[in-house]
Amino acid sequence: MVIAIDGPAGAGKSTVARMAAETLGFTYLDSGAMYRCVALTCLEWGADPEQSGEATSTAESIEISFEDEEVLVDGVPVTDEIRSAEVSEAASRVAVHPGVRAAMVTEQRRLIEAGDYIAEGRDIGTVVSPESPLKVFLTASAEVRARRRAEQTGGDPREILISQMERDKRDSEREHGALMAADDAIEVDTSELSLDQVVTKVAELARERGIA
Ligand code: CDP
Repeated sequence: MVIAIDGPAGAGKSTVARMAAETLGFTYLDSGAMYRCVALTCLEWGADPEQSGEATSTAESIEISFEDEEVLVDGVPVTDEIRSAEVSEAASRVAVHPGVRAAMVTEQRRLIEAGDYIAEGRDIGTVVSPESPLKVFLTASAEVRARRRAEQTGGDPREILISQMERDKRDSEREHGALMAADDAIEVDTSELSLDQVVTKVAELARERGIA
């Protein structure tokens, strides 16, 4: 069973999904980390993230796994490397290619098949798990999202705002797996809410629906 949490960059998906998973006893799946792994590998192998063929064969050649708090590519931990600004940018570019998306969606479905998951990303409620009984679409104003990410990473809020807006645009405009709320998603604007309030809201929704 899957609870889907989708939304744009910096809306708080990762932290909310991680904390709600802990509260409800579900397993957390960070789908964005998988696109980041493809991007990192492209950069390491000299494959062009813009080239559909190169990015797709990279995505199809690697094995991505999650172990405790670590993300691994072919058994090697890449947890910190995949968070760099360079990888964020490249992840948003590889995520446009249908072949890359197909490889990731297949793998995500395989993972979530076994057990109760809170999966977060852009297309969980629309593509990966459209049958999910609870879909939450987290939003916040662009400024709030950039400020939160700057607090997390120590980067410059204005630079982060610009790169997030570029990524959001690419995510929203792509043909496959575009960033959008599923018709039956519950939209939660987190601009004025604390992390605890959002986690409580997700847990309440899950309980109301008899999922947890
Ligand atoms: O947290 P942040 O938005 O910075 O990034 P992320 O969730 O780790 O995702 C990195 C990139 O992967 C995003 O910019 C999206 O382009 C892509 N992505 C996607 O296309 N589909 C998903 N389900 C998750 C991420």
